[in-house]
Amino acid sequence: MVKIAPSILSGNFLNLEPDLRMVNDNADLLHVDVMDGTFVPNISFGFPLAEAMAKVVTIPMDVHLMIVNPWKYIERFAKVGANLISFHLEACEDEGKDPREVIALVKSCGAKAGLAIDPDVPVEKLFPYIEDVDFFLIMSVFAGFGGQKFIEESVDRIKQLKAEMDRIGIQRDIEVDGGVSKANSKILAEAGATMLVAGSSVFKAADPALAIKEMRD
Ligand code: DX5
Ligand code: ZN
Repeated sequence: MVKIAPSILSGNFLNLEPDLRMVNDNADLLHVDVMDGTFVPNISFGFPLAEAMAKVVTIPMDVHLMIVNPWKYIERFAKVGANLISFHLEACEDEGKDPREVIALVKSCGAKAGLAIDPDVPVEKLFPYIEDVDFFLIMSVFAGFGGQKFIEESVDRIKQLKAEMDRIGIQRDIEVDGGVSKANSKILAEAGATMLVAGSSVFKAADPALAIKEMRD
């Protein structure tokens, strides 16, 4: 069954605790979007909030780093409670950094390592890292903001990645992030996605627990 990771970026920042408890009770992971205003044109939050959330969160915390030089901050995010940490391939390419080194760093901190790409990065660029990662994160909107429209071509990108995993006989989790809702959750799971991130479709729903259940089923 597909795992659901509500993105707290769409939560009520004035009072996150009820949202976090709802996620504990109904979802599989808590997705935490960290943005630095440089890698993406938006700033979200950092260590103090992640640390505070970790005190309430009882399910794995899935930290998505949309920042430049992610390797500089991975250890600290692991220390404040991240159980899964994903970073962007583009952030490595910009600095000539080998993603394998960063994956190894995440793992050495005791977290699961995820490699993310935006919609304009060819999915084949992930293929060399299938052996190395714990999971991939396929952005189905351009990283930076919640509430954007799902990019339909993402379904084919997931299928291509899944086909390559099948070809070489190594299975890894595939997380999809952006514009995910019950309107596309089934087709994403059928394409090979195993983790669905959902911000607005959960937190803007009249019944968030039901929204999570509907996406999972
Ligand atoms: C976008 C973030 C997403 C975002 C998803 O840059 O990575 O995790 O919170 O929000 P929705 O589900 O509203 O597209
Ligand atoms: Zn995200």
